[in-house]
Amino acid sequence: MSGRFIVLEGIDGSGKSTQAEILAALLKKQGANAYLTREPSDGVIGKLLRRALSGELQMSEQVMAALFAADRLEHLTNAQTGVLRYLKNDTQVICDRYYLSTYAYQSVAVDLDWTMALNKQAALMAKPDVHIFLDIAVDTALARIARNREHMDIYETKERLEETRTRYLEVIEKLKDTENIVIINAEQSPEEIARDIWESVKYLF
Ligand code: ADP
Ligand code: TYD
Repeated sequence: MSGRFIVLEGIDGSGKSTQAEILAALLKKQGANAYLTREPSDGVIGKLLRRALSGELQMSEQVMAALFAADRLEHLTNAQTGVLRYLKNDTQVICDRYYLSTYAYQSVAVDLDWTMALNKQAALMAKPDVHIFLDIAVDTALARIARNREHMDIYETKERLEETRTRYLEVIEKLKDTENIVIINAEQSPEEIARDIWESVKYLF
């Protein structure tokens, strides 16, 4: 038996972390082994990416795309904390962002097909049972972020997030026959969103 692999996607401030925690807690309450994780990962490449995302380090968009793909492979295959190991041990893995994030965010600046080629190995090794896309207007997402933070990451501008949301919707349409992607209205209350997510994933358990 292997665990299910559920990914949460959406622009910054769409509520992914909130919903990932709610879903992991619900699964644990039901007695399942659940592992909550995120990308960029907490490994060395993920830490480097967070320094670039905060603006502390300067990197080209090409280098960022390649590093997101490398971080993903490390996040999957790490001998101690890798996602593949959890899945093999019958643990349900809830992941905040995966390769759709690279397709949507990086394809604003670099070629989409190249980002897909960079992620081919990850897609072969661990294709999610479902990607949950939390869809939200950019203004709502930015208002949520601004309420709780002083510092904004490099992609947290209205222009970039509008482009990223458009890319997400294009990529979802492009991949509709090869990936299982569910779009959820993320303008609702946390409870309503959690209910919609559970309705979309409960058949997996
Ligand atoms: P993400 O991980 O997608 O950036 P978060 O879950 O961190 O999003 O949510 C961003 C902010 O919005 C947080 O301060 C969070 O408490 C708040 N938030 C999350 N979900 C909702 C919601 N449905 N309605 C209003 N605020 C929310
Ligand atoms: P995250 O910590 O999930 O930010 P938030 O909680 O605000 O959504 O992600 C950090 C940033 O990294 C976010 O701006 C999106 C970006 N990102 C990419 O551009 N490509 C990727 O492949 C991933 C995983 C993240």
